[in-house]
Amino acid sequence: WVVADTLGGQILIRLRYFLRLSDDVLLDVMTRFQAEMVKGLGRDTNPTATVKMLPSFVRSLPDGSEKGDFLAVDLGGSQFRAHRVKVFADGKQSSQLESKFYPTPKEVTEGNGTELFDYIADCLSDFMETKNLKHKKLPLGFTFSFPCKQTKLEEGVLLAWTKHFRVRGVQDTDVVSSLRRALQKHKDIDVDVLALVNDTAGTMMTCGYDDQRCEVGLIIGTGTNACYMEEMRHISLVEGDEGRMCINTEWGAFGDDGALDDLRTEFDRELDLGSLNPGKQLFEKMISSLYLGELVRLILLKMTKEGLLFNGKVSTALLIKGKIEMEHVSAMEKDKEGLSNTKEILTDLNLFPSEEDCVAVQHVCTIVSFRSANLCAAALAAILTRLMENKKLLRMRTTRRRLRAALQPFLLPLPVLRQVRDSMRAELEYGLKRETQAEATVKMLPTYVCGMPDGTEKGKFLALDLGGTNFRVLLVKIKSGRRRSVQMYNKIFAIPLEIMQGTGEELFDHIVQCIADFLEYMGIKGSRLPLGFTFSFPCRQASIDQGTLVGWTKGFKATDCEGEDVVDMLREAIRRRNEFDLDIVAVVNDTVGTMMTCGYEDPNCEIGLIAGTGSNVCYMEDMKNIEIVEGNEGKMCINTEWGAFGDNGCIDHIRTKYDREVDEGSLNPGKQRYEKMTSGMYLGEIVRQILIDLTKQGLLFRGHISESLRKRGIFETKFLSQIESDRLALLQVRRILQQLGLDSTCDDSIIVKEVCGVVSTRAARLCGAGLAAVLEKKRENQGVEHLQITVGVDGTLYKLHPHFSRVLRETVKELAPQCDVTFMLSEDGSGKGAALITAVAKRLHNIGQK
Ligand code: BG6
Ligand code: GLC
Ligand code: GLC
Repeated sequence: WVVADTLGGQILIRLRYFLRLSDDVLLDVMTRFQAEMVKGLGRDTNPTATVKMLPSFVRSLPDGSEKGDFLAVDLGGSQFRAHRVKVFADGKQSSQLESKFYPTPKEVTEGNGTELFDYIADCLSDFMETKNLKHKKLPLGFTFSFPCKQTKLEEGVLLAWTKHFRVRGVQDTDVVSSLRRALQKHKDIDVDVLALVNDTAGTMMTCGYDDQRCEVGLIIGTGTNACYMEEMRHISLVEGDEGRMCINTEWGAFGDDGALDDLRTEFDRELDLGSLNPGKQLFEKMISSLYLGELVRLILLKMTKEGLLFNGKVSTALLIKGKIEMEHVSAMEKDKEGLSNTKEILTDLNLFPSEEDCVAVQHVCTIVSFRSANLCAAALAAILTRLMENKKLLRMRTTRRRLRAALQPFLLPLPVLRQVRDSMRAELEYGLKRETQAEATVKMLPTYVCGMPDGTEKGKFLALDLGGTNFRVLLVKIKSGRRRSVQMYNKIFAIPLEIMQGTGEELFDHIVQCIADFLEYMGIKGSRLPLGFTFSFPCRQASIDQGTLVGWTKGFKATDCEGEDVVDMLREAIRRRNEFDLDIVAVVNDTVGTMMTCGYEDPNCEIGLIAGTGSNVCYMEDMKNIEIVEGNEGKMCINTEWGAFGDNGCIDHIRTKYDREVDEGSLNPGKQRYEKMTSGMYLGEIVRQILIDLTKQGLLFRGHISESLRKRGIFETKFLSQIESDRLALLQVRRILQQLGLDSTCDDSIIVKEVCGVVSTRAARLCGAGLAAVLEKKRENQGVEHLQITVGVDGTLYKLHPHFSRVLRETVKELAPQCDVTFMLSEDGSGKGAALITAVAKRLHNIGQK
């Protein structure tokens, strides 16, 4: 600050209240104005709002397709003028403007309404005469820079005069009809008033013609005001929710209810009292050019009276209202080098300034205009913030809408699920019938497991468990009779990807290597133990100790195995190793092993369900229904291999494009379509495909598809389970995603969680529909009204996922209401079941030999 002497120092102190507009105060002003806007927009709050937020019925910015020849008159600013505008739709956004200015003497601005509108009509007629337009019928736009309540574009009731206008008999009347009436008196011209616009809206449209992004119109002139494009759904005073409309804020009235009283000074109050509209337009009076000169005058007057300026001599000129105008203020502020302007202006006021006076007056001007700019910026910031938030909301709404559209196909309503249940039921029948089973997709493989363990099983057994998340080797000790119990020792081994997808020999050599390690580890290498082989892939069996691999599923694709007997392959690998010998007694699907494990505890368990890496079911079927196996007595366990359900296209109508992408990227395209919608190995992949699509649509991860998201298989079941856990806060979800290399915002995390939910829910419901088909079949087999049955269940999806099991149960209740199902979780895996089956088979075998 340059004023360092005592006088200047005093001036500064006197004016400190003007400088009080610190950033904090301005932020506060902004917040207050934001609240005022909300108040003005609300239907109930508008009547008492000072900031009127007037709908303008201008709904869009020009898009360049406008064309034509127009007239315009512009009343309310410092100059009254008439225009002719020619707009060409030539793709170059070009236009031509001719204008003429007319004076607005006091008789016009403070006279009566008829005179005012007659005067406007006269000027227009003169303009048309000058431009030689009298013969033309032209549309007219009426820029009328005062607050008008509009109900359509070509009508507006004046709410109150502002600025230097005070014309009698116009307030509360429609200014467009008044102008029309006045124009009708001119028989020689034919003008059609098409639109009434505030100057702010006119400004926004002018600029919007060149720059589509122009969404705010700001006037800082004789008066001050702003308009902006508001979302229709926030404008409760106008019908309709779609699109936007320009709102004339009439911010000049901000503070008329006292909201700015703490910031207004004694000079502001004095100025207001001397104005044409006391108590009104208080914000405008702190900002616009009509008032700044007067503010300066009042300050100088007071300072002079206090002896701080001009030797304390108050000239008569300084006492005259309006003597200092905006032009003077800017001229004095422009005096950067010398003081000549300032000196001249002050001398004209008979003030005889010293150099020091000139400097001080300059500072007063600067302070006043700075405050004006600051206040104006604060209110503008409020509008910009609102626009930004509106856009964010809009973005969120479109995101929601597109998200809903993307996820909609996953929501399978009950009737669709019933259809699924019924087609599954039909497929089960095809698989059992001799004529249809060859083409059947659900293969219904006989397992040669015909009974449940009865507690008489005993002995030591080895078991292998291949095909789920883990490969295990187990030693199972079964005791019968009163000490009936099962003891298990097991070891998990990894099967590297290159072995799962290498050659068959390598795979079986690796398995035997693991067995050798286990035997070594347990110290039982010498004993030739009976072995049960849980092999969780479709096998066609002709006896319990033989199984021809129909085709690999899930993550396996070792060569030279399909069509081969897996027991033979295992035996050969043991022979190749030539280190130990084993007695392979049974080969068992994991569903069968699970059913047996649970059946050992609950004899009512006649169904085995796996919802894990893969998805499958087995159940005890009446022999008479199994046409491809001889005999009609008793029951045999059927491994349905329902994962292949839909491979004939029967569920294609519910498969989404994401399902097709997952299928195409899998090891077995076109195969296991139902499994690919219901099991752990694929759910994460479906989620990943959806996320990629949403990202491409710009709805996620800021539209950026990261390296991690490109990686197949990043979403393992366990991540899905974690993300969907209700116990996790959003922040934790975000952390999981970050672990996966997905840099997500909180909004992203919400969406990802929703996607996971939709995908896993569909899986559970589809699985429930399938199970309902099996249950209904069992019920009909038994010929009962109500079926009481236990389903043995295993699998990581069922066990780990927070909602899968519940949704599955609920669906089954809905789709098989006559079945009372107990779901029994297999705690010990299918290895135990395989050992039990082995024990039974061994016993029968021994009996047979005897
Ligand atoms: C295990 C069984 O408990 O569950 C496996 O012992 C079976 O044989 C598995 O394949 C299924 O679950 P997941 O999720 O491991 O495939
Ligand atoms: C006054 C008027 C308003 C106009 C502004 C700028 O505030 O009330 O309608 O936009 O001045 O001219
Ligand atoms: C796959 C296999 C099937 C197995 C299921 C669950 O569907 O084909 O045999 O039971 O996965 O592991």
